[in-house]
Amino acid sequence: CPWPSVVLDSIDSTNAEVMRRISAGYIPPFAVAAERQTAGRGRRGRHWVSPYAENLYYSLALRIDGGARQLEGLSLVIGLAVLATLRSFGVTGVGLKWPNDLLVNNRKIAGILLELVGDPADICNVIVGIGINANMLVANEDIGQPWTSMAAEVPGLVDRTALAVRLGQYLGDYLVRHRDEGFPALRAEWEAGHLWQGARVNLIAGAQTITGIVLGIDSTGALRLSVCGEERAYSGGELSLRLS
Ligand code: BTN
Repeated sequence: CPWPSVVLDSIDSTNAEVMRRISAGYIPPFAVAAERQTAGRGRRGRHWVSPYAENLYYSLALRIDGGARQLEGLSLVIGLAVLATLRSFGVTGVGLKWPNDLLVNNRKIAGILLELVGDPADICNVIVGIGINANMLVANEDIGQPWTSMAAEVPGLVDRTALAVRLGQYLGDYLVRHRDEGFPALRAEWEAGHLWQGARVNLIAGAQTITGIVLGIDSTGALRLSVCGEERAYSGGELSLRLS
């Protein structure tokens, strides 16, 4: 792996553990994985179901210069690294849903949660949390949304150690490209992996629901929507497909 990594047996959340380690003086980059999470965190305060020894729960601590625009598109670039990892294990039909969900047939196979410690306009710590559904075939808890796993998509079980190593390699590669070339250099690749290009969507952003057609993303990673024939960019929110 490109950084020191540790695998824990059971922890509340690998993201929370990384935060504690940063407070205790560990210097990024470093990664923490776990066999199980008892309080796995998802986006928007949701719970991330994390059964023992079935999936990958991985958090990477990074030190980022927000002032040098290194946060721009970062969460989307992490999505590209996870996408490359899944494809390299033979998962086909996998793609991205802005900003950083990974789906197969509209079912979630992996999720990404970035948490920031410090000032985003300065040097800060970013915790990149990645959950990949690897060998989960049945869920003993309600996941609350359609989901799938690598084992449900490709024959055989996944070697989770190999998965973590491969993920580390792709993260390293993409982070170097992002740091050296900036997000604009990766934008076309991201759009090529986006499953919802041209889709009619609703975007929930704060208290607003915006209806539009996905045009793509801009050079900062914001979503470009055509709303009533006018192009607008949104830097956050939750997308859903509009059926009518
Ligand atoms: C999402 O809601 O899509 C994001 C899910 C992120 C889950 C991962 S699992 C490893 C890391 N630790 C956490 O508590 N959450 C992230």
